[in-house]
Amino acid sequence: MKTLLTVLFITLTHTGYIHAQDTKLNLLSIVEPKVEYHKNPTGLDVIHPRFSWILKGEGRNRSQSAYQIIVASSIDKLTKNEADTWDSGKVNSNDTNQIEYDGVPLKSDSKYYWKVKIWDESRIASKWSAPAYWTMGLLNFSNWKGLFIGHDVGYDKTDKYDSLYLPPARYLRKSFTINKKIKKATVYSTALGLYELRLNGNKVGDDYFLPGWTDYNKRLYYQTFDITDRLQEGENVVGAVIADGWYAGYIGYALLVRLDKVREFYGVNPSFMGQIHIEYEDGSTKIIASDRSWKSNEGAIREADIIMGETYDARLEHSGWDTPNYDDSGWKNPKIYTYPNGKLEAHPGTKVKNVEQLTPIEITEPGPGTYVFNLGKNIAGIAELKVKGPKGTKVKLRFGEILKSDGHIQTENLRKARATDTYILKGEGLETWQPKFTYHGFQYVEVTGYPGKPTLDAITGLVLSSIETGASTFSSSNAMNNTLFKNINTTQSANFFEIPTDCPQRDERLGWTGDAQIYMRSATYNSDVAAFMTKFLVDLDDAQRWYGAYPNFAPFPYSRPNQYAPAWMDVGIIIPYNMYKVYNDTRALDFMYEGMQKFMAFQEDASTDYLRPGGGNNWGDWLAVNEETSHDFIGTSFYGYDAKLMAEMAEALGKTEDAVKYRNLFENIKKTFAKKYILADGRTTEDTQTTYALALYFDLYPDNLAKKGAARLAEKIEKNGYKFSTGFLGTKHVMLALSKYGYNDISYKVFQQTEYPSWGYSVENGSTSIWERWNSYTKDDAENSDLNAKMNSFSHYAFGSVAEWMFQHAVGIDTEDSGYRNIIIKPAITKEMDFIEGSYKSINGTIASAWNWKGNRVLMNIKIPVNTKAKVHIPTSVLSDIKEGNKSLSKNKSVKILNSNEKETIIEVGSGTYTFSSKIKLHEQN
Ligand code: BGC
Repeated sequence: MKTLLTVLFITLTHTGYIHAQDTKLNLLSIVEPKVEYHKNPTGLDVIHPRFSWILKGEGRNRSQSAYQIIVASSIDKLTKNEADTWDSGKVNSNDTNQIEYDGVPLKSDSKYYWKVKIWDESRIASKWSAPAYWTMGLLNFSNWKGLFIGHDVGYDKTDKYDSLYLPPARYLRKSFTINKKIKKATVYSTALGLYELRLNGNKVGDDYFLPGWTDYNKRLYYQTFDITDRLQEGENVVGAVIADGWYAGYIGYALLVRLDKVREFYGVNPSFMGQIHIEYEDGSTKIIASDRSWKSNEGAIREADIIMGETYDARLEHSGWDTPNYDDSGWKNPKIYTYPNGKLEAHPGTKVKNVEQLTPIEITEPGPGTYVFNLGKNIAGIAELKVKGPKGTKVKLRFGEILKSDGHIQTENLRKARATDTYILKGEGLETWQPKFTYHGFQYVEVTGYPGKPTLDAITGLVLSSIETGASTFSSSNAMNNTLFKNINTTQSANFFEIPTDCPQRDERLGWTGDAQIYMRSATYNSDVAAFMTKFLVDLDDAQRWYGAYPNFAPFPYSRPNQYAPAWMDVGIIIPYNMYKVYNDTRALDFMYEGMQKFMAFQEDASTDYLRPGGGNNWGDWLAVNEETSHDFIGTSFYGYDAKLMAEMAEALGKTEDAVKYRNLFENIKKTFAKKYILADGRTTEDTQTTYALALYFDLYPDNLAKKGAARLAEKIEKNGYKFSTGFLGTKHVMLALSKYGYNDISYKVFQQTEYPSWGYSVENGSTSIWERWNSYTKDDAENSDLNAKMNSFSHYAFGSVAEWMFQHAVGIDTEDSGYRNIIIKPAITKEMDFIEGSYKSINGTIASAWNWKGNRVLMNIKIPVNTKAKVHIPTSVLSDIKEGNKSLSKNKSVKILNSNEKETIIEVGSGTYTFSSKIKLHEQN
């Protein structure tokens, strides 16, 4: 039969008649071909880019036995299978990601087309994947022809603390003529500051906040846009609007704490650099680069600051300034600025985009002429305004996350972030406006000065984010937990904004490293953050202190006396480790390795007898309630965890000696840690929830006492009414440690808790996002007045780190090796819930797991992607009782029983969908 199929297949491929037959032939298909984690990326500067794809196919136990990638310099060549750039040949491997390009050296400013075919488990070839491409950016310094140009607005900064200095945006334009047929046109552009590129009257690309935030002294990212279809014969106009951004504007809480510097951390004036490369059909080329021949001016954007807001005076618009036939004789020649010291590189991450548009659900009028629009959820982004009225009317927009009891927006928690946008009408019919260089964290928009009474369509919420959520789904029998899942996603979206920020609303929005490391694994479940985090690793590496510590936030434009803190500085180990674990990304480990070693040396130096003291900035188990864990305990436990992860990462890189060294270090830390912190009865010396959670989860307990420690943690949680006393560090680890030691029922009680402090408490109080504090808000106004408005964000993902537990334990999806090739399906089945179902789109495709009770039987529905295997844990020892579909297990050839003990049966399955049912008798703790 198989030979017959093969013959048939070969005949069909040769006749080109394959499509309709694919399913019948049961061919595997190739979807989502990516290069460097991006679909058809433009402007890469990685010289050995990595390929990946996902396989789809019917049936069970499907896998790839070999692949072949071909790369060609033109689509014609690719179609004819002329691999003039690279032919990998048939490679006997089941790898589908992290495959490095290994062909002829890639050239600057060039486009490459590629496709892949694979052979399945029966050695039957697939069709070629649909053609995909990538382009290379400018690889050599000599390719850069532009100058950094700007516009002199005069510098009149007077009082740096009490009045804001908010200079206007600058406008740059250049007219040029095209009189031959174009084959290809590309723009390479960047700015010190923020820029929006314009061409013939329209924005180029759909990104915001370009070129992104880096340590501009070390590197500056540029963007690449294909504009082949956007140029016209005759006159064309390229333009750029530039503003201060992170480069020259206000950053974080510098103003609040009155640092000696509050803005201009990297430079004083924004400037732009760019060039258009045109290739004509006759083979000739032309470069139009930013230079002295451009024109510059001020314009309608009078103020533009990321955290303070934007002011737009439509009366000052230069109508048609970025289109042909415009008279720019009143414009000046641009000012030339110095070239930056940093490298020019392609942005490796994902850029900020408008990922969702929200129509308000309600307008209220808490005061005469003060209108409050409710967008229904707490987002990061901007509001688009639609307005009609007399010239000179000033409409003001302010932003808030919650309402006060009088119906007005709460802005106290924004601290020094003015977060105010102003639009001044030109009075010419319906005017639609959105700011370009600011964003806010908000659910409510307060509108004042509006001419007449606004209707719902006066405001549209534009959600801005660098990521798309939706890589996972979660649904359970508890509606509160389902809302919690939504809130986690909303808050991740709001804070994955160029860098992982702590919060999007107040004068902070920094890449706080403790928050980022705690949330990293959760982030990967909700979204594909591979490229986003690849970029953040660069920020971490650039921000690493000369003495080895990773700082409190990255990028690190300024510091206060202490630059690092336990559990914050460990970000440099924990994020790379998860890049490896989740995406099988050893290149990330390679990139970070030297820095990680330096960090380990710094810790060694700071330690006495393997105990790493708190040191640095001591936030401890930040925002914990009622219990305090010592900073020294946190210091040493994270040091131990780092050593453990380092050993695994060294191993993954084939650095065997280092792996041994770090494993020994881990054992030594474990020994002294136990001596100092673990008592003979299994209690910790400090006896807080967090101490047990960290020590148990990090494997720092002596083997003979771990069970006792876990029992004590369970007892403490029970005694505390199934509520936390933990902060940023302890919370997710309590959940993970409870489940690790089999106390699932307890973790579910905590998960479903609605009394303060708990996740349910925020949901019951109407939250649409994750709060910074367990008690950020209560409906009881009297209590609210006690709240610390100085530091109270309603969009802080740190406590959302429970997503890690939700997927690893409640849904039960984890990876045994790196990159989800050997999947673990081990849902924590409990009588506390009727059902849980979820899915996760891994780098190998979607994994799904669902369980529900049918009387005393449990049904488990599982989906395992092609080219992977899973170990499914079913919590019963009675093998004969387990059915797959309607067959008993013993008769089922597509599954393999690996182990059956008194607690569970472990079954190995290949790709496909499976339904297991079994009578279940639940056991507490392992
Ligand atoms: C931030 C954090 C951060 C913390 C450090 C706060 O102001 O918002 O989330 O981790 O400072 O203590």
